[in-house]
Amino acid sequence: MTSPHPHIARMSPYALADLEAPEGKTLISLSQNESLRPPSPKALEAAAQTMGTSMLYPDPDWTDLRNALADLHGIDADGILCGNGSLDLIGCLARVYAGPDRAVLAPAHAYPFFQTAARMADARFDTARETNATVSVDALLAAVRPDTGIVFVANPGNPTGTRIPKSELVRLRQSLRPDILLVIDEAYGEFSDHLGERCFDTVAEGNTVVLRTFSKAYGMAGFRVGWGLFPPAIAAEMRKVMNPNNIPASAQIAAAAAVRDDAYMRETCEMTAAPRDQAAVTLRDVGFTPYPSFTNFLLLNMGSPEAAASADRKLRSEGVFLRPQGGAGLPHTLRMTVGPQASMNTAIEILTQWKQEGQP
Ligand SMILES: Cc1ncc(COP(=O)(O)O)c(C=O)c1O
Repeated sequence: MTSPHPHIARMSPYALADLEAPEGKTLISLSQNESLRPPSPKALEAAAQTMGTSMLYPDPDWTDLRNALADLHGIDADGILCGNGSLDLIGCLARVYAGPDRAVLAPAHAYPFFQTAARMADARFDTARETNATVSVDALLAAVRPDTGIVFVANPGNPTGTRIPKSELVRLRQSLRPDILLVIDEAYGEFSDHLGERCFDTVAEGNTVVLRTFSKAYGMAGFRVGWGLFPPAIAAEMRKVMNPNNIPASAQIAAAAAVRDDAYMRETCEMTAAPRDQAAVTLRDVGFTPYPSFTNFLLLNMGSPEAAASADRKLRSEGVFLRPQGGAGLPHTLRMTVGPQASMNTAIEILTQWKQEGQP
């Protein structure tokens, strides 16, 4: 049998949520940061209308979607690339700009796929400490090495939910060596757009990419559409490695319609923030410590890895799935997606009961 490249053989598959409810229990998943409501009805209607032309390949240039995004954000459509989810773009960035001689750097509790992308490119993955689960620009700068090729920062972060101000990202860019690519992943950016800190103009600082996705605030994780704003030279290199025809026509059309229904997405953000903040108060009242969240999830500090594992077992035994975060270097935490109110209530009730039982 043929053998894989040694760096692939050394990898473990990317860990997705394990979602198997015990027999007789209904599965409640608050584990994948999916939206609490479906996509805009306008997006669904637009997608349905494309089904009859599915014998045709989709637009390889995502023209209508790029134009819709450019109009909404006041950015140049030529700088936009769309991916099969932002995972696709993260993987391609690592393929182009990382390798055995160009390491990847990210904060200690960064989105785990940054590490996977580095490993796929056979690049070393370095981390910089965070302060209270919040990115530290000073620590990132101190962790830069002569062979650092890419710095990935998700802002807000996943699984932390915390964010740093745009001024800090600008300081990071301006203090990094110009040859280092800075990737700002704003998968949850829409949930903090009301702060007036959109980052697209940092791309003009040079060697900087900003990524977003339709999987979170737009409620379109199943459509698999991500996008980013790229400097032209980087976009040209990316196109060499991206799969052509990477986004189905129905998904492109649905995403463009969703962008043009901005009010619906904004409403989703508000409908998410209110129960998130309420849940944080309730959980704090019963003795839990959620980190500040600028996203559609809460990261709960359970006090110790043992406590997090014990609470996770209790929740799973009832069919409720949060996401343990040992893989992101936070074994004392559980991440809870802000889902439908009834699911949140069930999770909070079980956690409260667990606490009252004096676990672990
Ligand atoms: C920070 C971050 N980046 C990227 C992604 C990937 O999103 P997509 O569904 O667009 O591939 C996620 C998904 O959870 C995420 O949390």
